[in-house]
Amino acid sequence: MINYMEKIPNNVDLGRDRVLQRALEHWQPAYLNWWYDMGPTESDPYHVYLRTAISVDTDGWAQFDYVRMPEYRWGIFLQPLNADRQVNFGAHKGRPAWQEVPGEYRSTLRRIIVTQGDTEPASVEQQRMLGLSCPSLYDLRNLFQVNVEEGRHLWAMVYLLHRYFGRDGREEAESLLARRSGDADNPRILGAFNEPTPDWLAFFMFTFFTDRDGKFQLCALAESGFDPLARTCRFMLTEEAHHMFVGETGIGRIIQRTCQLMKEKRTDDPADLRALGVIDLQTIQRYLNFHYSVTLDLYGSDVSSNAANYFTAGLKGRFEETKLADDHVLADAEYPVSEVAGDKIITKHVPALTALNERLRDDYIGEIQRGLGRWNRVIEQSGLSYRLTLPHKGFHREIGNFAGHFISPEGQVLTEEQWKSHQFEWLPTAQDYAYVQSLMAGRVVELGKFANWIAPPPRGINNQPLDFEYVRFN
Ligand SMILES: [Fe+2]
Ligand SMILES: [Fe+2]
Repeated sequence: MINYMEKIPNNVDLGRDRVLQRALEHWQPAYLNWWYDMGPTESDPYHVYLRTAISVDTDGWAQFDYVRMPEYRWGIFLQPLNADRQVNFGAHKGRPAWQEVPGEYRSTLRRIIVTQGDTEPASVEQQRMLGLSCPSLYDLRNLFQVNVEEGRHLWAMVYLLHRYFGRDGREEAESLLARRSGDADNPRILGAFNEPTPDWLAFFMFTFFTDRDGKFQLCALAESGFDPLARTCRFMLTEEAHHMFVGETGIGRIIQRTCQLMKEKRTDDPADLRALGVIDLQTIQRYLNFHYSVTLDLYGSDVSSNAANYFTAGLKGRFEETKLADDHVLADAEYPVSEVAGDKIITKHVPALTALNERLRDDYIGEIQRGLGRWNRVIEQSGLSYRLTLPHKGFHREIGNFAGHFISPEGQVLTEEQWKSHQFEWLPTAQDYAYVQSLMAGRVVELGKFANWIAPPPRGINNQPLDFEYVRFN
């Protein structure tokens, strides 16, 4: 169980380490200041029907009740210790997992933890205005659930920094509260986390595509030989699943509503559909192209000596590392990566150790494809022939082998001129954003009501009805 008696709820026996406890209690008000400053706009007085972790057991961790978000019980929860756990890959394979930071990997590990930690408050900042335009109380509650849990993910990384990295760690923890998404002088570390999330279509795309990158990064870190990091990430993954659910079902419901009107009004003309106040499938496709491509960049360069070093050091594994049937050292293995040669995309085999970013990206793409298939089934079940597609993985990339090249969604190598003449068919235009923004003029908060552009979900949260009061405003 988690100890809620303490100022900082935790299952790491924080009370036994007074120095650490004091350091974190010092960080806590700074965190709250950040939340008041950068958390969901105007939300402080709201009572939100939220789940809170009460234990780290698979079924016991979610308790639902009304909570004011600044009073959410953010805390430090790690999966229980398995004393027999080993380093399962790389040069130290077979040794006992590290319970303290190995000196030689100290700065590398700190960097990994800071980079992960930085994404958590960033997404809260990106999403802070969305509550003002929610399509229903159900969706508003889901947004806030995602936000408080991203806040807790920041806590999770900050605990590691404070507990294991001394003064440097404390300084990094402060910097995590100082950077701001999209800030010109002090931006968040990774590109996609500095992009605005201006509307709910972008929010659902973000939680489908970018939170899923979070999942795959956490899965790779959950394999880490540094055991406290692995156990922290394992628990974070249980929360992450809900975020991706919000994204996938959110997009699915938008598609469903659009298809319903396409059938009823017998039209597939985007202009007609916009006149009816729903989001045409072409606009959804352009948003998809954008969020998919900027998220692919988060995995880093296709060929990366950093990735090889992280793996060999035992710090960051592959997706489901321990379920893979190979030597977990990758001494002689190869892996295919793509490259642009002239006007063609070719496949090259490189040492698998150096292609671990690409491999994680490919694992991610597999899961994305299955989600996309479920969206297409919504269209198919409406009897319509339109299909959403994933663009080629070289499309609109700024990092890795495709950076600086102009690849069409179909995977043709184009000149810059050719690409630019089609850009407006492939990526959201100023008009697209303006149209979607026009749907966000106000919020829908009547019990059981949903905005015109999105279908209701099949069921409520925690078996509550759809007309449940998921958020109370006073
Ligand atoms: Fe997160
Ligand atoms: Fe998330």
